[in-house]
Amino acid sequence: MSDIETLPADTASRYTIAADSDARAPKRKVQIRSFGCQMNAYDATRMGDLLEKEGYEETATQDDADLVILNTCHIREKASEKIFSELGKLRMAKQDRANSAAPLRIAVAGCVAQAEGQEIRRRQPAVDVVVGPQNYHRLGDLLRQADEKGSAVDTEFPVEDKFDHLIAPSRKRLAQRGVSAFVTVQEGCDKFCTFCVVPYTRGAETSRTPESILAEVRELAEGGIREVTLIGQNVNAYHGADGNGHDCSLAGLMQKAAAIEGIARIRYTTSHPRDMADDLIAAHRDLAALMPFLHLPVQSGSDRILEAMNRNHTALDYIERVRRIRAARPDIALSSDFIVGFPGESEEDFRATLALIEEVTFASSYFFKYSVRPGTPAATLENQIDEATKSERLARLQKLVDSQRHAFNSATVGRRLDVLFEREGRHAGQIVGKTPYLQAVAVDAPRELIGQCVEVEITQSGSNSLFGRIV
Ligand code: 5AD
Ligand code: SF4
Repeated sequence: MSDIETLPADTASRYTIAADSDARAPKRKVQIRSFGCQMNAYDATRMGDLLEKEGYEETATQDDADLVILNTCHIREKASEKIFSELGKLRMAKQDRANSAAPLRIAVAGCVAQAEGQEIRRRQPAVDVVVGPQNYHRLGDLLRQADEKGSAVDTEFPVEDKFDHLIAPSRKRLAQRGVSAFVTVQEGCDKFCTFCVVPYTRGAETSRTPESILAEVRELAEGGIREVTLIGQNVNAYHGADGNGHDCSLAGLMQKAAAIEGIARIRYTTSHPRDMADDLIAAHRDLAALMPFLHLPVQSGSDRILEAMNRNHTALDYIERVRRIRAARPDIALSSDFIVGFPGESEEDFRATLALIEEVTFASSYFFKYSVRPGTPAATLENQIDEATKSERLARLQKLVDSQRHAFNSATVGRRLDVLFEREGRHAGQIVGKTPYLQAVAVDAPRELIGQCVEVEITQSGSNSLFGRIV
């Protein structure tokens, strides 16, 4: 029985008028599995918005999905290779359902799609659609094309802007978004760090227009979102031009976003140290809605390695920049990314990284073993570091970073902090939110507080989250 037959007559007629013809058909289901960074998570949400218009609703399980989309990440070899093992399993599922009433279709989106293109179908012919991060606004067309021709691949960098073609979320989907949302404001990268695939998978640096971003933030705020995180691979290089051709920096954009009714908190990620402009640093002092947390990857503390990475700054440049940021906002919490075992990294280079961490002190950090990425300049460097050395350095780095994280979390015990509650906790009667410093806090409190910023006294610090009570 279709949806429409189960509705009372008057609702059905309104439903028919309001919705397009696809809405009459029984809904097909799509499972979108997203890997990698926040931008991929954002893209997955936008694909879901778009596919709803195409007659799909999202499901969390593969078994009832008509379409599975793997939204992939190419940043390290592990992430990338994992996709092919996932595809192997999906091929079996597709075979099992080949003669059933509900065949399975498989799409690969995201950065592996962009990097590998046709190669994906060569390695796994069960894939129906391959679509790059700049082309997923065409997903509906590509699925139809795959129906007609057997497959569709689109990884060209298009001339048109995908943001002009994406679809605003329906009320229903908006209501499911919760309290905090990502909004892509900038994409791609022109920095060409020698280890990194991003310039090749996401293309050249481009910024969305402020109008388009602010319209999206307004829509989200109307749907109950209280916190937006503006995202970009190089977000602080954001440079939008408004309708009158006036330049708009990230700081300017955040000021405008903060003025939107309902928006209580603003964050941004990920930043490059070289793009911490004066007005952005000043915004950390002047803009109340801008949260005192900054993810500012440094990758290494060795000048020699920073140069080989083409980071275009020294360790001291980074430390000085942090000093200026802390002068503007003394309580700011910092986090960073580190790579260990970059080609040629000596014990002395590695110790310089530990020294930088000791000097700066971070609230949290991410750390990775260097992973060779085909096509990047560092892949062809000699002096690749052996796996055992990488593991040993990673463990030492982790120890230091963990101890700083514990110290940071413990220091908040006894303090009163504003917590924006986001969801129910794992235990009955508990709700979970975030402090300004991006720490998760669990509190025994009524679920009606979800969506509100409430003062909480931190009573305890665990390994990954804090506990507190409403003041
Ligand atoms: N190997 C290991 N880590 C990498 N990153 C990017 N490229 C590589 C690579 N080839 C890390 C960087 C970056 C984060 C998103 O991933 O630290 O900041
Ligand atoms: Fe992974 Fe980078 Fe692509 Fe994000 S942009 S999905 S981190 S490769």
